[in-house]
Amino acid sequence: MSQKLLLSIPSAPTLDARATAGLVRRWRHVSDPRNLAVVYDELRAAGPLVPTPWRALLVTGYDDCRQVLAERNWRTLSASWRDRHRPGWRDSPSTAGLCETPLQQDPPEHTARRRPLAAALTPRVVADLAASVVEPLADEYVSDFAARVRREGSADIVGAVCRPLPTAVLAGLLGLPAAVDQAWLTAESLAMVRVEELASPPSVVRRADQAAEAQLACYERILADRRRRPTGDLLSRWAADDPEGARYLLLTLFSAGVPTTAALLAGLAQALATLPGLAARIGREPDFADRLVDEMLRWDPPGRVVTRVAGADTELGGRPLPGGQIVHALIGAAHRDPELFADPHTFDPDRPPQRLLAYGSGLHYCLGALLARAQATAFMRGFARELPGARLAAPPVRQPGPSMADITRLPIAL
Ligand code: HEM
Repeated sequence: MSQKLLLSIPSAPTLDARATAGLVRRWRHVSDPRNLAVVYDELRAAGPLVPTPWRALLVTGYDDCRQVLAERNWRTLSASWRDRHRPGWRDSPSTAGLCETPLQQDPPEHTARRRPLAAALTPRVVADLAASVVEPLADEYVSDFAARVRREGSADIVGAVCRPLPTAVLAGLLGLPAAVDQAWLTAESLAMVRVEELASPPSVVRRADQAAEAQLACYERILADRRRRPTGDLLSRWAADDPEGARYLLLTLFSAGVPTTAALLAGLAQALATLPGLAARIGREPDFADRLVDEMLRWDPPGRVVTRVAGADTELGGRPLPGGQIVHALIGAAHRDPELFADPHTFDPDRPPQRLLAYGSGLHYCLGALLARAQATAFMRGFARELPGARLAAPPVRQPGPSMADITRLPIAL
């Protein structure tokens, strides 16, 4: 099979600049993963590196994306890079805030900011949290939701469970005061990361900027309180150890942990409500929930694009590239690479395990991968138990844009 597909994929670009620009424009406006399949195939057929009108390159192959994520000479669009290339960028509080998170930092800043987060999310902490916080919360949210569906006929699972649950879990990890409005925090986290979408319109950037400022002010109030009245907990330690930077640790957790996990849960809910037999297998087969999570992360990873810049002259996709070249690694396309995944556009939880790129690779590998998995498996077990025979009451509503998988509404009925 792979031989047949290889024959149909030219190794050099076959499209002229105008056709490529049209293809990139189409890619930017597609959000439904079923439609992305066609665009990913066309991009791949245009060659391993597809030029964009803004002089970046789209990287579609699995090995090339992995190289970009894992190799040290690929750098983030960090504050120092932006100071050199994007005058005025500090006027945007959302971009400025993201550049204070490890996601947009390189060593040595990256190392220092990542360390306390890694210490807060060790496998042992997450295993304890899964039993004491994640599972009880997932059970509560899903059973309340099921009761509402029985009462009202149908309800939106994204607004009721998929989005609030990751915020509630982080609130539990951090011991956030009860006075913090979690629904507000969820909305602000989601609004802020929209700035990462390629070519966000000014209204989206303005909203992201407001969300960054409001969140940072909220985190600062919480930390100031812990500084005045330390309790010996995680937030008290962060507040004391790094008075300037602690608020960015909170910003990192909510912006990296809420939109991504919410998108994963929503995708899983859609799969459970549309593909017959999946929910029943969760109860019957001990490792099926894990395989379902892996296949959802492959088929439509919550973060579909990671952007990097070449720190020095390098080579990618068989081509020499100059230092300073910006690339967008299309993780979503890499996960549909026919050289690695048989029948790549088919959602198949029974496919053999593969090393996925959904959580990144190398220096920036996701610190919340275990926590996200704990939430996804607890959510699906609750779903299978409480919502047997669940179906979609209406088609899912999706956020436009190619970079982030995001179902904003998913009405479920029984
Ligand atoms: C399904 C859910 C999730 C997905 C798909 C996901 C995906 C990713 C990816 C792709 C990266 C690397 C980005 C890059 O290389 O630029 C990353 C980094 C990160 N993630 Fe996650 N993530 C998820 C959930 C979480 C959660 C729940 C947390 C925290 C509680 C979290 C915390 C982080 C942090 C702190 C980083 C930055 C690591 C660094 O730059 O050194 N993530 N995540």
